[in-house]
Amino acid sequence: MSQIIDKINQIRQDNPQNLMARYFSAEYFNGLNEADQARLLGIFASGIENPDSSMGAYAQAPEDYDKFSTALDPLIRDFHGIADGIEIAQKHDWPNAETANCNLAEIDPKLKDVSMRVRVARNASTYPLPGAMSKDQRISFENEAVAAFEKLIEDEAFGGQYLSITPGSKYEISSAEYDKRVAAHQMFKDMSSDRFLNVAGISADWPYGRGMYVSRDQDFLVWVGEEDHLRIMSMMSGGDLGALFGRLHAGLKKLTGLLPPFATSPVYGNVTSCPTNLGAGMRASLHMKLPNLTKGGTDLSVVTAAAKDLGLAVRGAGGEHSAAGSDGLVDVSPSARLGVTEREIMQRLFDGAKALWALEVKA
Ligand code: ADP
Ligand code: ARG
Ligand code: MG
Repeated sequence: MSQIIDKINQIRQDNPQNLMARYFSAEYFNGLNEADQARLLGIFASGIENPDSSMGAYAQAPEDYDKFSTALDPLIRDFHGIADGIEIAQKHDWPNAETANCNLAEIDPKLKDVSMRVRVARNASTYPLPGAMSKDQRISFENEAVAAFEKLIEDEAFGGQYLSITPGSKYEISSAEYDKRVAAHQMFKDMSSDRFLNVAGISADWPYGRGMYVSRDQDFLVWVGEEDHLRIMSMMSGGDLGALFGRLHAGLKKLTGLLPPFATSPVYGNVTSCPTNLGAGMRASLHMKLPNLTKGGTDLSVVTAAAKDLGLAVRGAGGEHSAAGSDGLVDVSPSARLGVTEREIMQRLFDGAKALWALEVKA
């Protein structure tokens, strides 16, 4: 055990961005019994094996957040910007007719063409989190989701199709169709090549138990078997953030009634694999072209620093850990997902986009 503690201490020195290492307490760890030490090391394994992690932890069971709150709360507070002394808590408040007035075209008519996406992460309370699922459980969860989608397919507003990548599934798609959906930003990438997810066990048994639902108009999508059991999302352009959030909220309500109960906590809100996604479980993003702030898409350092001051994170155009696209196309989204409501996330995205756009125009 002392070797692992030494390794984590070394990571703390060499990789100050690694929150797992930054807040690791050897004293707390040594006070745990052997079984709990092993469990905590399982949660921290990805951050230990990948020192360049920014978070470095993935829960394996919904209860982990309560059981190991002493170890995990400091990481959670740091990431979501919840100061010591402020209670960690999640409230929900979706935009409604009065509060959804966030149209990007008001900032600049050019922004009505940006691609908008908002997703929430959800996990069934009846299964372990993805890092600890067996292959049978992955397949069985997908089957439960398929039963829900078979009902949703009939729905006028949310009807569509299910596409599975589970070998032998009756909804199995070809690898060409899978590649096409990934390129269209609708489907998730091959998880087996993600070293963070591999160590956490989240990508195990790939591609079994994985697939996606897509509505006929292609604007309501659900991922099955990625980093969380479900990622439920809406994607559209047109600039109307209120419409985007409204579409997700309506679809989420419809689907929730068809699925097993979700894992939630009064403290942490929606329970997710990665502590970065707790709370609203929501990431709302815009694909904005910011050529001036990114030196034509070659350098994300300036835009990342400017975005950070606005509470936003910047990703490449292909999602996390990808590079900017042509014309400096980047993905910007509010970082905090816990301790902020869904409506506040929408507002932060709008206000942040406005401020970034002002910088882009004058750069
Ligand atoms: P998340 O973790 O929120 O699901 P990722 O960074 O893993 O997001 O990206 C998942 C996929 O979603 C990628 O293909 C990414 O390009 C796409 N994506 C994210 N935001 C947008 C957006 N606003 N418009 C189009 N595609 C998007
Ligand atoms: N585990 C990775 C890290 O710590 C990713 C963390 C956030 N992203 C995510 N997809 N959960 O850097
Ligand atoms: Mg992701």
